[in-house]
Amino acid sequence: MDFANKIRLIKDFPKPGVNFRDITTLLQDGQAFKAAVDAMTQACADMEIDLIACPEARGFVLGAPLAYNMGKGLVLFRKPGKLPGKTIKHSYQLEYGMDSLEMHEGAILPGQKVLLVDDVLATGGTVAAGVELIKQSGGQVAGVAFLMELLGLGGREKLRDHRVISLIKCDA
Ligand code: PRP
Ligand code: MG
Repeated sequence: MDFANKIRLIKDFPKPGVNFRDITTLLQDGQAFKAAVDAMTQACADMEIDLIACPEARGFVLGAPLAYNMGKGLVLFRKPGKLPGKTIKHSYQLEYGMDSLEMHEGAILPGQKVLLVDDVLATGGTVAAGVELIKQSGGQVAGVAFLMELLGLGGREKLRDHRVISLIKCDA
């Protein structure tokens, strides 16, 4: 399936000069969503993992069905103030602004192998924060998987120590 064709481009969102790749058009196409999740599952099938982790919000959309398909537990990396228990936190730079991610302390145990999943790799700031949270917990990053990779923004370089899978590659 031509997944790239299912992604809508919206110019000047969220600010002038940014070409926003909108995955909602792929998600609302049932066949495309299922095929994309299954293709990501297939691409990660040979990874030895204990858990899947994914950042709020759009990471949940891919991380949850991947965890379900693979029969693995799911760890949610959330924006600040959302998790009720004791958390650890890491701040990061976005393509447009700053943000932080938190996870429940103890959600990843030392030595556990974690597959990190998000919808889009752009500058790599979000996923690098996820990698930091996994490392702070004593876990290992078994791999990183995206629905889409935006080329030319330096994300792939930030992940050079890890196995990276992306279903769609397109220019930023
Ligand atoms: C978006 C996207 C990725 C991230 C990619 O998240 O979902 O998580 O940006 O950009 P990066 O590689 O430069 O970090 P964002 O925080 O904008 O919004 P969301 O809460 O809708 O996922
Ligand atoms: Mg996101």
